[in-house]
Amino acid sequence: MTRAISLHDVSKAYTRDIRVVDRLSLDIAPGEFLVLLGPSGCGKSTVLRMIAGLEDIDEGRLFLDGEYGNELPPSDRDMAMVFQNFALYPSMTSRDNIGFPLRIESPGADPAPRVDATARMLGIEDLLDRFPAQLSGGERQRVAMGRAIARHPSAFLMDEPLSNLDAKLRNRLRAEISQLTRELGVTTVYVTHDQSEAMSLGDRVAVLRGGVLQQVGTPRTVYALPSNVFVAAFIGTPRINLLRGLVRAPLDGAMTISLGKQFLRLPEPLSLDHQLLRVQQGREVIVGLRSEAVRIAKPSAARTGEVALTGLVEHLEFQGHEVLVHFNTGSRPAVVPDLEAPRPRPERPARRRRREGTVLHRLRERAGALRAGPVATLDRSEQPAPASAEPRVPGDLIVRTTPDIRLRHGMQVPLLVDLAHLFVFDQQGERICPNPARLPDLEE
Ligand SMILES: Nc1ncnc2c1ncn2[C@@H]1O[C@H](COP(=O)(O)OP(=O)(O)OP(=O)(O)O)[C@@H](O)[C@H]1O
Ligand SMILES: [Mg+2]
Repeated sequence: MTRAISLHDVSKAYTRDIRVVDRLSLDIAPGEFLVLLGPSGCGKSTVLRMIAGLEDIDEGRLFLDGEYGNELPPSDRDMAMVFQNFALYPSMTSRDNIGFPLRIESPGADPAPRVDATARMLGIEDLLDRFPAQLSGGERQRVAMGRAIARHPSAFLMDEPLSNLDAKLRNRLRAEISQLTRELGVTTVYVTHDQSEAMSLGDRVAVLRGGVLQQVGTPRTVYALPSNVFVAAFIGTPRINLLRGLVRAPLDGAMTISLGKQFLRLPEPLSLDHQLLRVQQGREVIVGLRSEAVRIAKPSAARTGEVALTGLVEHLEFQGHEVLVHFNTGSRPAVVPDLEAPRPRPERPARRRRREGTVLHRLRERAGALRAGPVATLDRSEQPAPASAEPRVPGDLIVRTTPDIRLRHGMQVPLLVDLAHLFVFDQQGERICPNPARLPDLEE
């Protein structure tokens, strides 16, 4: 059996005035693998613990297979949780660790057949008679997984189960978890702050920031059509380039977005998305360019939809199969607060709560992501970066290239920007290009 899990406007506040989860609504289909992704402190574990019944839900409703479940005791939810520090009982062998929940569940039954079947599935038959101290981290994690799946739960709740492992092992176990949960067809909610893990595992990814859901969609959608600058910056490596730009749309001339002394000239005839940017005339915006939107090539090599820029090489990051080139294009990078830091917010004052049900209130509700405050604050970027911000990297534009291209620091290099991959966000950080009216699911 597998389970549908629905959260309706669920909130949680540990202290009176700070909601760490703020009106979260999410429908998880039976058998789905949903990843909760967000920076440290954004409320991921709290959401998972509320689903498990380990934490009370302050406001809102939880439905399990359509039935109201807020008050259901954890033991009646038929879910198995796997934690980051997969505590196994040190005095029990792997066999007993895996069999323990089975013995609790049905005291009279012999757990051996289930334990053996689970061990076969996980490839840990040889480890059954060892104690946790005699296992490597990866082996221990597999035993912990075994303990979770032996019970045949109707849902798995996994809280950063791989974060204590080294990168190689993490990748291998990641593939195994993916295969295993798909084989079992069990609804899985998986928490991580690692975007690449989220992208490789999830059927859908739900991005949280400061307790507020920013976007939920397939990995492809959240990457290609991020709803705001936070999602755009959180997902994808190297991080999307975010530059401060100014839209110029003279009635009698070409439309451009200036980036410092240089500018992007939008090709004519304007695409529908670019036409809609006209209303931003004279306004500051945030231009988002993923590294694949820019290549090193002369203006004469431009294909349709590509426009020229130049950049000064400031730093080269050799990655083996590719090189990340940090250019200085003379533009100013945009700051995205909260990428790594929590952003607890005061709860709404009582005066505003009374407005629930009014049109204004419903409009506010719809403003979804805006509830956690503006994502990007352009005027903040002049201030010194907070201590929690990402370390400053040289250059304002990172471009990927093959290692055979010979570049040196201080070289002025011609670049081509593919405007089909142009993102534009408004000053609040909401995406305005591609037009948000585009329905993500149609893009799949
Ligand atoms: N028992 C608690 N009492 C008070 N505050 C808490 C408690 N548990 C969590 N918090 C706070 O709630 C917020 C969300 O915590 P949570 O553990 O859900 O974050 P997270 O997204 O899982 O972070 P991480 O990636 O670091 O595990 C944090 O600001 C945290 O300090
Ligand atoms: Mg956590």
